[in-house]
Amino acid sequence: MKAVIDIRNKKNKISRHIYGHFSEHLGRCVYGGYWVGEDSPIPNINGIRTDIVEAMKAIKVPNIRWPGGCFADDYNWMDGIGPKETRPPMVNTHWGGVLENNHFGTHEFMDLCEQIGCEPYICGNVGSGTVREMRNWVEYLTDDGNSPMAQLRRKNGRDRAWDIQFFGIGNENWGCGGFMKAEYYANEFRRYATYARNYKSMGETNWWQVAPLIKIAGGSNAEDLQWTETLMREAGRFMGGLSVHCYVKPGEESSGTVFSKDSWYQTAVNTLNKESLLKQNISIMDFYDPEKRVLMAVDEWGMWVDNEPGTNNAFLFQQNTMRSAMSAALMLHIFQKYSDRIRLCNLAQTINVLQAIIFTEGAKMVKTPTYHLFDLFKKHQDSYYVPVAWDEKPKSIKMGLPNADISASASDNGKVFITIVNLSADDKAEIVLNFAGRKARSVKGGFISGEVTAHNTFDNPNRVQVQELNDIQVVNGEALLSLFPCTIAAVEAELE
Ligand code: AHR
Repeated sequence: MKAVIDIRNKKNKISRHIYGHFSEHLGRCVYGGYWVGEDSPIPNINGIRTDIVEAMKAIKVPNIRWPGGCFADDYNWMDGIGPKETRPPMVNTHWGGVLENNHFGTHEFMDLCEQIGCEPYICGNVGSGTVREMRNWVEYLTDDGNSPMAQLRRKNGRDRAWDIQFFGIGNENWGCGGFMKAEYYANEFRRYATYARNYKSMGETNWWQVAPLIKIAGGSNAEDLQWTETLMREAGRFMGGLSVHCYVKPGEESSGTVFSKDSWYQTAVNTLNKESLLKQNISIMDFYDPEKRVLMAVDEWGMWVDNEPGTNNAFLFQQNTMRSAMSAALMLHIFQKYSDRIRLCNLAQTINVLQAIIFTEGAKMVKTPTYHLFDLFKKHQDSYYVPVAWDEKPKSIKMGLPNADISASASDNGKVFITIVNLSADDKAEIVLNFAGRKARSVKGGFISGEVTAHNTFDNPNRVQVQELNDIQVVNGEALLSLFPCTIAAVEAELE
């Protein structure tokens, strides 16, 4: 197979925000995941685990969506500010009825983002909250003036307003966020978004569309095109973004770790099938917004497999394997392909929940194959998308799949970055990368690999980890690679 990467065809910038993450008050994502409290023997800064912050910095996490999910539409932000001992608890009705003590609230989340060096993406409450509550939250977060909420924030120890770019107006309001009809939610969006003011650009004309606050409407689960159509028609001009959720199921063999190679292939098919769904949503957005002003936010995505046996079903604790990393790689390739519209994405859900990148157990921490996948992909962040053409097409393997899936980008300094998935669980992939008249001077890279069920545990934390890719030759300016079965590689080429 020979892929041709012609950097003269480079397109739009791939926003770094498509490599974002989603963290909900669900199971052990926040408590035991990020948050251990200031008095914990586990190393922390202001109650936030240091090992987690370091791990997330290392893969350049660009943003985190919080506090939900379904939880967001039941959350009153006022309960999560002020002295911890006076914060009223609540029952987390969506996720197991556990008591939420509200010790991790707005200041703690914003501190987490500052420690990591990433942007916050806050999701407001439409389902059970009032317009005033949401309005006040935005004022509390973003007003540098002397408004009542800015003064309250100062009283709680934070002088400067935070910079917030992304703000969600509800979540899945067709489901857990209030079971609303599309027309009804479109009106609610308009109303709530009106009062989520842009304190940093007060007084400008078209103030409802002006940056920095990008107001993101709660979107469909990708299949409900009617929802997308109604929202764009009725509220598109008031939006900065529209969300779409995109979970992948593996088919019949849905255990997290016990499955056959067929499930690897079925998962690849199920993931690639999401492209046409996303495309249909994009077409609707293109019709109402041909300038592509409104970003698509795939703000919940990832694999959804069986919960690990013996764990609390409401906590969605799921193992993840090379199969999960492969599915994430294919999905990121899709996001990259449509990155002129898809400009914000959030993998569900960071720590101990769904397709986590990290697991914790007391003081222990382990990185999953999906973590290493994000490490491999980080050089695509803010690079320019370059479509890949074929001199020799990939051959077809099981279930009509190509034997490899490739995506490329070019950086400002002319380096070319290519990520490749060998979709065969049985055979090596021999790949030639051609640079359309340009010659590669040097090519280096890394990869993750293992049998389809390979995964990391506290006892065996490095079963899947990034290794150096040694099997690269440069011949006449082309790069020749040989990838093991079931491998994801990332290659950087410097051209002459
Ligand atoms: O990620 C778990 C849940 O899935 C989220 O809370 C909800 O938005 C979605 O249905």
